Amino acid sequence: MLERTLILLKPDAVQRGLIGEILQRIEKKGLQIVGLKLRQFPRKLVEEHYSVHKERPFYPKLVQFMTSGPVVAIAIEGKEAIEVMRKLIGKTNSRQAEPGTIRGDLGMSFSNNLVHGSDSPEAAKKELALFFSDATELCEWTQPALEWIYSVQEELA
Ligand code: RTP
Ligand code: MG
Repeated sequence: MLERTLILLKPDAVQRGLIGEILQRIEKKGLQIVGLKLRQFPRKLVEEHYSVHKERPFYPKLVQFMTSGPVVAIAIEGKEAIEVMRKLIGKTNSRQAEPGTIRGDLGMSFSNNLVHGSDSPEAAKKELALFFSDATELCEWTQPALEWIYSVQEELA
């Protein structure tokens, strides 16, 4: 019923001081944070994370970018959280992303596009296991406003 997704605040978001702005958008939406950490992640982990793009010409630069500085990894929970987050993030090319989206409001680049969000339940499962391999880093909790964020009987039954 509630779904989990992996979000990464990419090195450009961290270097530009946008961690707070982006986290605030996620929280304000009503999504719940169940895991959060800042790390410069090892190359091997990033290569595995983007392994679907292994054969694409942009893959080496993507891995280089994602290991160039600290990244914030966030585990998010909510109803249809994967799709909701993808909508909140906006199109891959920030210049084409709609105003109101994170990329549309805060970015100008295709490559330095601030945020990653899992794109399917399978990807979310794999990516959450990669970035939060230690299950004790995830917190089981219920946000007190849950019954105001959702119509619980209709949506969370
Ligand atoms: P992400 O995985 O980072 O959330 O981004 P996305 O789903 O919107 O885009 P995806 O197709 O998965 O591509 C992953 C990242 O690779 C870079 N990219 N460059 N030059 C290119 O043609 C190209 N295509 C993709 C982008 O930085 C994109 O976020
Ligand atoms: Mg992607």
